[in-house]
Amino acid sequence: MKEKRLYSFEYLRYAPLEDLPEAERRLANCAAEACSKSYAPYSDFRVGAAALLDDGEIVSAANQESEVFPSGMCAERSLLYYVQSNRSGRKVRALAIASLPASRECSPCGACRQVIADTEKRQGAPIRLILCGACSATVVESARALLPFTFELE
Ligand code: THU
Repeated sequence: MKEKRLYSFEYLRYAPLEDLPEAERRLANCAAEACSKSYAPYSDFRVGAAALLDDGEIVSAANQESEVFPSGMCAERSLLYYVQSNRSGRKVRALAIASLPASRECSPCGACRQVIADTEKRQGAPIRLILCGACSATVVESARALLPFTFELE
């Protein structure tokens, strides 16, 4: 038997950025501010990420590059590893990602999608993603939507 199947998902797009609901705009602003914590002398591409935790706290991080290129770390994974190490037991409700330059909305790379999906699985709840650009934002309800056929060990 052969079946053709279609994968699709819904997302929200806001343009201009000011149309984002206020709580998400606040998180988007924190992600944009976190770009200043980036160390990106090699790519010159600064990424900031901000997470809203279930107790209302917002934590943020930025990409950190290394002279040994593969040793650098994306903003999203820096942030989620920080949360897991220092806010253990807290759930991440939403994650905003911004970049400098901000001409396009910043979308998580494949490795970060996997780690965000891992976090969703561990905490048993989805993470709303807010992908921000200077003039617009896209909101996706779960990292799993961006990673169909997600790898799982078990
Ligand atoms: N980067 C992130 O921080 N997050 C992503 O999802 C993709 C890329 C960083 C890694 C590197 O420091 C720079 O952006 C250029 O790839």
